[in-house]
Amino acid sequence: MLRNCTKTLGLALLLVLVAADSDQMCRHLQELHNKLQFKQRVRYMKYYIPLNYTFKVHYEEIYRIKNTTRLQKQSFTEVDLKILWVYINSQVFKSILQILPRKHPSRRYVRSISKLFDYLRMEVRFMVMDLDERVEDIIDAVQGKDPESRRKDIKPKALLDNCYQVMI
Ligand SMILES: *[C@@H]1O[C@H](CO)[C@@H](O)[C@H](O)[C@H]1NC(C)=O
Ligand SMILES: *[C@@H]1O[C@H](CO)[C@@H](O)[C@H](O)[C@H]1NC(C)=O
Repeated sequence: MLRNCTKTLGLALLLVLVAADSDQMCRHLQELHNKLQFKQRVRYMKYYIPLNYTFKVHYEEIYRIKNTTRLQKQSFTEVDLKILWVYINSQVFKSILQILPRKHPSRRYVRSISKLFDYLRMEVRFMVMDLDERVEDIIDAVQGKDPESRRKDIKPKALLDNCYQVMI
């Protein structure tokens, strides 16, 4: 995602699609990038969380580099992958917020990232018009609209690691 804010491949397409919002989107991605630095991921999602703590998420909330490679082979486009990254992580941070007690020291951190994803979702909404049905299915599953969707145990920090690795 962040690559689109530099002059590399993919920029043109994204800029056409988000025209008016692109500056703002880059700012939000930059802010997100800063918040997801290793030190902060470790601090808020490891040191402040019980040892080996895991919780259940939808399978589709697990979105690693490996997934993007596989989806590309199934002819998902760059835009599909980006939209998925935004929607999936938007849900991921909501899911993490749900397990944190009201006064937990990581709450503010997670909430601030969740808010950035709310903005990003608005900023990519123009790209969502002609979505591949397969992308829609994944988004529905992530948002819990598919009752059949299975769940998997995962450490919260692993979700942040995934988010960061796919971003850069
Ligand atoms: C956490 O996991 C590690 C590695 O699997 C294990 O060595 C350790 O005993 C576990 N700690 C707790 C408190 O369960
Ligand atoms: C990513 O791959 C895992 C299996 O490795 C799968 O369970 C998960 O649903 C995939 N996520 C997406 C968004 O396709």
